[in-house]
Amino acid sequence: MIVSLDHIAIAVPDLSKAIERFMNDFGLSFDGKEDVVAAQTTTAFFPVDGTSIELVHPLAGGGPLVKYLEKRGPGIHHICFASDDLDADIERLKEKGYQFLSDEPSLGAHNTRVIFIHPRSCDGVLIELNEQAPHDG
Ligand code: CO
Repeated sequence: MIVSLDHIAIAVPDLSKAIERFMNDFGLSFDGKEDVVAAQTTTAFFPVDGTSIELVHPLAGGGPLVKYLEKRGPGIHHICFASDDLDADIERLKEKGYQFLSDEPSLGAHNTRVIFIHPRSCDGVLIELNEQAPHDG
């Protein structure tokens, strides 16, 4: 079940400049950067009242986000809902005909399991579902 709006992600061509904006100009608290190898992105998070802004930038100048920025430019990239049972939500939505970008969830930022629903299934919006991964030990 979807339980909250986890974050809204913005694709940015200049990560440092965008971090400066959200931290200094908008005065949000900066939760740090994290490389997400599975998605080939570098991310930066700014928590705001129960949700977060996520900045996404190509990791080491590579990955699918490079093409995205060339083709569509900077802007809102995806929204992410937190799920309390990701596997059940994937199964339920697949049964309803939703298409996903991958068959299985991958590792996301902040120790989460994530999967993306194809924008063609959601009126052009890329939707990420995430679930907190169990901690080791
Ligand atoms: Co995200």
